[in-house]
Parts: sequence; C-alpha cells; structure tokens
Amino acid sequence: MKRVAPRAAEPGPALSDLARVARLARRRAIAPFSGFKVGAALRTRAGEIVTGCNVENASYGLTLCAERVAVFKAVSEGMGHFDAIAVVADSRRLTPPCGACRQILWEFCGDVWVHIEDLRGNARTVRVSELLPMPFDRRNL
Ligand code: THU
Repeated sequence: MKRVAPRAAEPGPALSDLARVARLARRRAIAPFSGFKVGAALRTRAGEIVTGCNVENASYGLTLCAERVAVFKAVSEGMGHFDAIAVVADSRRLTPPCGACRQILWEFCGDVWVHIEDLRGNARTVRVSELLPMPFDRRNL
C-alpha cells in the first residue's frame, strides 16, 4: 500500500518566509500588457523551494501565471511531495490563484496550503480544497 504522509493540520510557521521568496520572484514577472506582477514560491515537504512569476507575451492568451510556472518548473525537475505555495501580488484585494491554476495545483500538488499575500503584508492562508471544492481529476476518468 502506498503510504502518504499525513497533511499538517495547521500551516507551517514559515509561510511568511515563503512569501518573501515569492515577493522576490515577483520582481522577475514579465507583465508588460497587464502591468500586474505576480510571484509564487512552491515548497516541498523537504523544504526545497521553486519559484515562478507570470510570463505574458504579445498574443496575450499564452500567458502563464506565476503559480503554474512554479508547478511546471518543479515537476519538470522531478520534484514532488509539496506542502505549500505562496503567491504575492500588489492589488487592493488579495490575489487568489485563477481557476486554471487551482486545477493544476490540485492535480500536481494536492491539497497544499495556499498562502496569498500583498506587498503591505496582508495575508490569508487557505487550502486548495477550499479554492476548488469539487475537483475533476484522474479519479473521474
Ligand atoms: N496572474 C498570475 O500570475 N497569478 C494569479 O493568481 C492571477 C493572475 C497573472 C496572469 C496575468 O499575467 C496577470 O496576472 C493579470 O491577469
């Protein structure tokens, strides 16, 4: 039987540290069309961190969000067993992952903590299952 490490009942204490990493990644955002820069930092249970930023291009529709960049970077490097992602943006309302990113987070990271923060330090931490309560995934196929 495959053993799965139990998920922590509370988010780790260091999610604001993870957000600091996401804030640095945000500075590399390529967002000339929206002007909306986002940074993400995805953490494994072992404590490795992979960052992402949004990458826009002239066709608009091929834009990748910071979250998906981080997830695809990580899984393409063979990483797994994630426990949290921090997402930092600068907006009046906190920026939660878009629908596409929720799906990708659920499928590749599972029910990890999602820590969203703005540049003033306002923050909220939720789980992917709160953002995507009735997911479609491989169990449906
Ligand atoms: N964006 C992200 O990178 N992550 C989010 O959670 C929300 C939206 C990006 C996509 C696009 O480059 C810009 O923000 C505006 O939608």
